[in-house]
Amino acid sequence: MTRKKAHLLGFVQHGVMNHASTMWAHPQDKIGYSFARPEYWRDLGRIMERGLFDAMFIADELAPYTTYQGSSDAVVRYAAQFPVHDPAAVVPIVGAFTKHLGIGITLSTSFIRPYQMVRQLSTLDHLTGGRVGWNIVTSYSKSEFQAMGLENLTPRDKRYEVVEEYMQLCYQLWDSWDDDAISYDRSTGVFADPSKVREVDFQGRYFRSRGRSFVMPSPQRRPVLWQAGSSEQGRDFAARHAESVFGVFPTVTTMRAYADDIRARADRAGRDPSQLKLIFGLQTVVDRSRDRAVEKYEEFRSLIRIESALAIMSGHTGVDFSTLDLDDDVADVDAQGIRGLFDAILQKNDGKPVTVREAAELYGMAMGAPTAVGTPADVADEMEHYLDEGGCDGFMLLATNVPGCFVDIAELVVPELQRRGRYRQRYPGTTLRESLQEY
Ligand SMILES: Cc1cc2nc3c(=O)[nH]c(=O)nc-3n(C[C@H](O)[C@H](O)[C@H](O)COP(=O)(O)O)c2cc1C
Repeated sequence: MTRKKAHLLGFVQHGVMNHASTMWAHPQDKIGYSFARPEYWRDLGRIMERGLFDAMFIADELAPYTTYQGSSDAVVRYAAQFPVHDPAAVVPIVGAFTKHLGIGITLSTSFIRPYQMVRQLSTLDHLTGGRVGWNIVTSYSKSEFQAMGLENLTPRDKRYEVVEEYMQLCYQLWDSWDDDAISYDRSTGVFADPSKVREVDFQGRYFRSRGRSFVMPSPQRRPVLWQAGSSEQGRDFAARHAESVFGVFPTVTTMRAYADDIRARADRAGRDPSQLKLIFGLQTVVDRSRDRAVEKYEEFRSLIRIESALAIMSGHTGVDFSTLDLDDDVADVDAQGIRGLFDAILQKNDGKPVTVREAAELYGMAMGAPTAVGTPADVADEMEHYLDEGGCDGFMLLATNVPGCFVDIAELVVPELQRRGRYRQRYPGTTLRESLQEY
């Protein structure tokens, strides 16, 4: 039996912090770089491409969280996913300095009209030669809705109902130009055949749009569609639409349960489940010496500020953790925010109670994902375990110090995976879809 090869993606944000709390305070984080400048993105892209990553994934939310203590003070104080700049602006920069690396971004269907979404994503797909991924989100935080002038977060059921229709309109727009529509004929002055650039006339319950798509079909025609919902509704949506799904699971048992479930749903939706790539969150702290790796892990852990982690955890889940004592157990509640991340907290001890403090430490370090600490061989062992027993196709690598943690992956872990026949030796083509579907 051939052994499954891993896909690797780098999980970052256009901000001071990525997904691990207060790592920006580490003396080796962003030395000589400003996250707000192009050089940072150029070098981050080059490092990930050197590591033959499928893609850089720039996650996003649209406003500072206000769930913890009903305020964004803690968020501002600790740079807890604050400030966060626009991810789309970075795409052409990374694209210009790399040749194969995919660049995925989060764009929210709650605040961008489908017509504009298609135009923006297709433009970026042109500018990168077909390397764009779209993480489809409906937004989960009340602060985002308030910042946009809407008082309340739309309930989950409704968000998924609306986004289903949203996608139908996007597909119509992406498919509305025929492959041979453009003649670009200088002798006649005819650019395109109007009969092959169809007008879309969409009259839905939530969206209407009439007009021709304003963008030429891009190299991938549609961006690679990513999704990260893990509620019931989120899983069904992913099974119907996503080419890749992201999940965060603290244990191999919870990984496997999710993998089996989502593949069964894809099958029921009439898709080949192997086409839906499951990418799970993983943090790595690696060094040639195991003792040094453990020491590094302790350095990172000591940086976590519990209040910062709680502010992010509250923002993500929609539950104000300041109302609980640090030694209280986290109880299951109807989290209207990111259900999957809330579940990761609850499942940390395989069903046994988890205190708020434990949850914050776990969340502060890696948002609920496992952390693999050790030599390149140790980390590769753990990855193989998750690929084989957890059922995933690859990893969304949570950052610690940047760009150092990605240099360590590219220089130490990737060669080890390659030696084991668990990773590509070169890119298969030029588009993100080719990398994702290579194995
Ligand atoms: C690994 C991972 C990454 C995510 N990235 C984003 C993001 O960048 N922006 C966002 O608004 N939501 C993000 N989410 C949230 C999901 O896309 C989704 O909106 C959320 O999980 C709520 O859906 P659910 O209730 O079905 O889980 C992420 C979730 C996970 C697990």
